[in-house]
Order: sequence, then C-alpha cells, then structure tokens
Amino acid sequence: MCGIVGYIGPREPEGVLLEGLKRLEYRGYDSAGVAIFNKGKVEIVRAVGKLTQLEKALKGKRFSGPIGIGHTRWATHGKSTLENAHPHTAGKVKIVHNGIIENYIELKDDLISKGHKFLSETDTEVIVHLIDEELKRGDNRGEAIRRAMLRLKGAYALGVIFDDDEKHLYAIRNGAPLIVGVGEHEHFIASDIPAILNYTNKVIPLRDEEIAICTQEECSIMDFKNGNVPRTPQKIEWDAEMVEKGGYPHYMLKEIHEQPRVIMETIDKYIDKDRMVPSFDDLKIPVSTLKDIERIEIVACGTSYYAGLVAEYYFEEFARIPTEVQLASEYRYRHPVANKRTLIIAVSQSGETADTLGAVRMGRELGATVLALSNVRESTIPRESSAAIYTEAGLEIGVASTKAFTTQISTLFILALHIALIKKTMTKEAVSEAIHELTALPWLVEQSLKRETLIKQLAEKFYNYRAFFYIGRQLLYPVALEGALKLKEISYISAEGYAAGEMKHGPIALVDQELPVVCLVTPGPIYDKVMSNVEEIQARDGIILGIGEAGDSRLKKISREFIPMPKAPYHLTPLVYTIPMQLLAYFIAVKKGTDIDQPKNLAKSVTVE
Ligand code: F6R
Repeated sequence: MCGIVGYIGPREPEGVLLEGLKRLEYRGYDSAGVAIFNKGKVEIVRAVGKLTQLEKALKGKRFSGPIGIGHTRWATHGKSTLENAHPHTAGKVKIVHNGIIENYIELKDDLISKGHKFLSETDTEVIVHLIDEELKRGDNRGEAIRRAMLRLKGAYALGVIFDDDEKHLYAIRNGAPLIVGVGEHEHFIASDIPAILNYTNKVIPLRDEEIAICTQEECSIMDFKNGNVPRTPQKIEWDAEMVEKGGYPHYMLKEIHEQPRVIMETIDKYIDKDRMVPSFDDLKIPVSTLKDIERIEIVACGTSYYAGLVAEYYFEEFARIPTEVQLASEYRYRHPVANKRTLIIAVSQSGETADTLGAVRMGRELGATVLALSNVRESTIPRESSAAIYTEAGLEIGVASTKAFTTQISTLFILALHIALIKKTMTKEAVSEAIHELTALPWLVEQSLKRETLIKQLAEKFYNYRAFFYIGRQLLYPVALEGALKLKEISYISAEGYAAGEMKHGPIALVDQELPVVCLVTPGPIYDKVMSNVEEIQARDGIILGIGEAGDSRLKKISREFIPMPKAPYHLTPLVYTIPMQLLAYFIAVKKGTDIDQPKNLAKSVTVE
C-alpha cells in the first residue's frame, strides 16, 4: 500500500502533487517524495516520515514545471529510510510505485550482472533499472516501458517520467489501482479519485496491463500487447452524501474497502518497523504483570467475540497461555474464576456494549488485570479497564461490523507476539518473521477485495436460497461464524456457521440439493481433513461454494462455484478470507433490497443488557 500521483499541465506541479498526496496519505506515511521537472532536468526531493516532512523539505523551492510525480510510502521491502523513499531513479528514468514485485530478487541479480548499481533495498528499484536497460534497445520510451513490464511478476501501479522529456507522463497499471484524470490542457494520475477531485471530475480508470501516455493535451492508452485501447473518460458525479460515503452506495461497502488502509494504520501503531518487533510502549500494564499471566479470558459479544475466537489460537500458539473466549453476556452470570494472574481482554468496537462492560467490572472485582481493546477512545469500557489499546478502524457507521473485526484481529495478533516475547515462548527472530509477514497483510486484503465482481455474480445466483451453511476449521472456523452472522444480520437469510468436523455430528442431516454450503479451505496442517468434510457434503448433494487458495484444483473441482483467494501466511488467513464473507453478505443483501446500513431490529451500540 502506497499512494502515487502525477501531473502534467500549466499549474505548479508541486502544489498539485502535495494536495494529491495529502488525500492519499491514508495509504502510507513512512516516507514521501516528488520528482519534478526543473530547468531542463528532473529534480527529486524526498523525506522520511509523514508528508509534513516533505512539505518542510520543499519549502522555498521553485520548479519550472510542467510535469512531476509524487509518492507516499508504506514500507514493505526495506526500512523507512531516505534511500528507500520514492521516487527512484536510474539513468534518465524516474518512477513511483505502489505494489509488490514478486520476482525482484532474480531481476536484481540479472541487472547487477549487467552493471546496474542499486542504491536501495526496495523491490521498486528493479523496475526503474529494467526500464533503463530496455532503453538501450531503442529510444521509444513507451515501448521500453512495455518490454520492461512484461518481465515483472506481481502487482503494481507506476508513474514514470524521464529526465530529458517534459512533454510525457506515463502511468502503468497491473493489479494495483490507478486512474487518469482528464482536465483542460492537463492530465493527472492517482491511486484514488479523491486525490484529483479538486481539479477534475473526468477520469479514466486504467485496467490491468494498460499503459497511459499523457501529454498536456491528450492521453493515449495501450495495453501490454501494444494495441491501442480507445477509452472515454467517465464523469464522476458524487453528491455530498456520496462524497461522505467515498462514492460507495452504502457505508458498509465503503468500510469493507477501507480495510487495507485501516489495517495498515493499526499495524503501524503497534509495531516498530525498524526492528520488526511489537511496540506497546504506552501500555499501562507492567511487563512484570504480563510475565506472570497464567490465563487469558477474552470477553466480547457478536463479531468482536469471533475476533476473540481467532485470537485464542494466537495466544495459545505464540504465548503458550491457556486462553478462553467468553460471550460477555454469559460470563457475567456465571461464577468465573479469575485472579491477579488472569488477563481479561475485553474486545468491543464501540466500547459501550453493556454486557462486555458488565464482564469488565466483574473481572476487576475479582482482581484480574483487564485490558480493553476498543475502536472508540472516549468510551466507557476502556475507561473502566486497567489499561486500553485501540484499533485504528476510524468511525464505523454500517451496523454490520466489518473493518472493526479485521483491525481487532490484527491488533490481537501483535499483542500475542508481544506477550510471546515477554514470556520467551518465541525467539526474537520468529517474532520478527511473523511481523514481517504481517506487513504484507494490507496488500493481501487489497488482493482479496479484487474478488468483488466474482462474488457479486455469485450473490446474484444465490440470493433466493432460504438458508446457508458456512463451514471452516481451526483459524477459519470463527470466519465461518462471522460469515453466517453477516449474512443473517443484513439479508435476513437463515445462516449457520459450523466447525467443519462437527457437521457429521448432526447438522449434516440438513444438507440437500437446496442448501448452499460456503466451505472455507486453506492449505495447512489439516487440509485433507477439511476436504474430507467438504466431500461428505458434496456426497449428500449439498451445493459447495468453495473459498480456497487460487491453485486449489481439488476444492475447485467439487465446488459449484469457486472463489480463488491470494496465497497468504497461514496465521493471516482469517483476515484474508473474511473479505469474501463480507462481500457475499453485502451483495446478497443488495439483491434482496434490505436496509444494509441499518438492518431491522439492530443497533450499532448495544448499551442494554
Ligand atoms: C455484528 C455486530 C455486532 C457487534 C456486537 C458487539 O456485525 O456489529 O455483533 O459486534 O454488538 O459490539 P461491540 O464490538 O461494539 O462491543
């Protein structure tokens, strides 16, 4: 996740680029930079940290224009240093990049053998050298870019300019978002529409494998096969409410799409990216207390409870602490056993849920340490707990919780690693590796969101069914529960989530040719076992809606419909597989015409018991 912008036209490029970057800063803020034409060549200015640092670095500078590109970075390959900040350069080529180049190591080795010198640790730098290398085969810039793109594997959106050419701005999209904005005698490129909406409402959303070559007056688009693609700009007609909803028809869909960003912001807050370790410096629980913890109880309701069920695996596997997840409404009326060696984690998006609050008060009375995980700072649960940590999901308006869930799981993942380090149940290297994997999560979630069209088509076929089942095992079991909850609450279809291995103990009696069963399967230690459960359902004529890793031909073969998921580290699969659950419920509800953001009988904050 990074943000890119570009401009060619009569305005001062630095103003346009900074304005655009401000609106894209949600995509990352480890460093920022611009490359702007100035008196016959391109000048690069970069700064580590938030955009304000770049603004300081640019203060007093004047550029002759008329062309420039800009970038705000969220570090994946290489730390947040000046060398790793974009734009990157090789020879005459300057580029900004959003995405991940999967084959960068082999390309880098090849380019080094041809005499290229690398200055950063980024995957991006191979792209700029690759274009520079291709230029040696002829001076046609568009053609050199096209040839270079054919060698890249991965997802990317790029802005490119050349040292000796103030007349052409190049934009390339393959797997990461990028639009071209069309103005009067000017063109813009950006990762997202709001970045340019102040200047124009005419946009061309680039498609995968497309290269746009823009001058001040026109913009031609070709595909990677070198064919010209005729495209007419679309007019963005957003009214005040749509601007508020970011152009989406419902808050729920907007919030689903915000997940890559809010997960990134949440992760950023709780990790030290330079050392790749958890960072809970402000946590008001002494390390000595955490060291002595013998038991964890997670108390929560609804979707937050399911986040707790995922986290239970993390705390037990990473920190080796016996962990139980309790429905807060049940917990408070039992006779729970807790003492000063118990850590109670109260998970609540709103921070106001009456039952969770009741459990917090009871836990404190019993002498336990109570840690709140909430999304709302001024709320009661954090205030009444021993300490609090917060997700960075931002205001969640849709009653069906989406982004709160994935940010809760992300935070609890880091917390489990933090306690594992304190308890010495994992080595620092193993923790760093897990954190490193986590930094790719926003990108993986972004990839998962790309299944939207496929899921919409699925919803259109199945919205009239009377009941659904959702099954998964281990880490995907809570995701099955959450998928079923999402469907029932906004589409009012009866839906049940089940542990796949439990189906044969009763619920399989319900399976027939009228029952769609959403089967969540991921490669891992019990893949064969889950597949046996899925095959048992198929043998009884159940309709298999398979959600599994893209190359899983075994699951695909027995699925009536198959949604391919990006390959993800096992521990992060709950976050990646939740996205299709949310989208499926959403599009089924759209077809049913329900009030998605405010479903009947529900409220966002349940402050009654
Ligand atoms: C479901 C949903 C609810 C909440 C539950 C707890 O989409 O939103 O199940 O998760 O009411 O709310 P919080 O997290 O605010 O305590």
